[in-house]
Amino acid sequence: MRDLIARWRGESVVTAYDEPSDTWMFIALHDTTLGPAMGGVRMRVYPVIEDALIDAMRLAEGMTYKWATIGFGFGGGKGVLAVRAIPTGDERIRLFRRFGRLVESLRGGYSCGPDLGTTPEDMATISLETTHVHGVRGEGRETVDPGPFTALGVFSGIKAALRHIDGSDALDGKTVLVEGVGDVGAPLARMLGAANARVVIADLDAARAQALAEEIGGETVSADRVIGTVCDVYAPCAVGATVNATTIPLLQCRIVAGSANNQLFEPADADRLHARGVLYAPDYVINAGGATALPLLEMEDPSEEDVRGRIRGFDAILTEIFEEASRDACSPLEAAHRRVERRLRGDD
Ligand code: PHE
Repeated sequence: MRDLIARWRGESVVTAYDEPSDTWMFIALHDTTLGPAMGGVRMRVYPVIEDALIDAMRLAEGMTYKWATIGFGFGGGKGVLAVRAIPTGDERIRLFRRFGRLVESLRGGYSCGPDLGTTPEDMATISLETTHVHGVRGEGRETVDPGPFTALGVFSGIKAALRHIDGSDALDGKTVLVEGVGDVGAPLARMLGAANARVVIADLDAARAQALAEEIGGETVSADRVIGTVCDVYAPCAVGATVNATTIPLLQCRIVAGSANNQLFEPADADRLHARGVLYAPDYVINAGGATALPLLEMEDPSEEDVRGRIRGFDAILTEIFEEASRDACSPLEAAHRRVERRLRGDD
């Protein structure tokens, strides 16, 4: 872990070991140029603790880019709870209260919200200990689920990608493979189904995939056959790094556009996709719907329609990115990074 921290180009990593549950807690603070760090808290069982630290660091970096892209005054941070087993009941509540106290100890230097493996209800638990938590509103602790907002951004991004390649964003008859139908993938699949796309669903939980496919009139493919399935759009909506040097040569899609954070194993994968002629919608742009909705919905008198309008605007941001990439013959990730660099330097 010493080497990982020494090599990291972020600001700091807060580390706590939670003895009662044998959980390692990491809060990675990547870049606070634009404001205090804000980002979700993820809970997972990791094969080794180092993987959890790497996840926290890479996810925090993604948040820096996300905030800069959507023009919000927050810095990049992310929390990770590396648990032994997914806790339930009282055990879960106690764990999140202790994490809430850790967040509180930073006095606003980091604020959290839901991410993979954590729920709006967990945020309500955290809010018993700190106000530096998002997705919980008012005294009644009404929760806000960012998932459908993230899904809306991905839906708009898929249309932008189709339009860039085909000149039309009609989803009718287009095949979209949604990998992972959790809090984001499920609402995305529903929107795609309603737009008459042919939706193919994969999930580690085969029963969950089947039930959703039946609901929306879609199809399923087993989770281990996602790569290699022929489709127009591959939408990774689960864990990251599914797009890598091994999988890219096997992809049978024209577009990669989904909600997962860190879809690429490494930045060079963006060039590999580009070389294969697969259009990649940079993850931190297309999946910024939740990050857009959470702070806006906390403001006084938020209008959900305004928030949705802003998220639909990702279409225009991505279109600009795709056009800049075409013009400069670079990958869309490179074009998106340039925008972020301009923002962080204050040139934009
Ligand atoms: N975890 C989600 C994301 O990465 C939603 C979220 C955004 C949660 C910002 C907290 C803060 O975008």
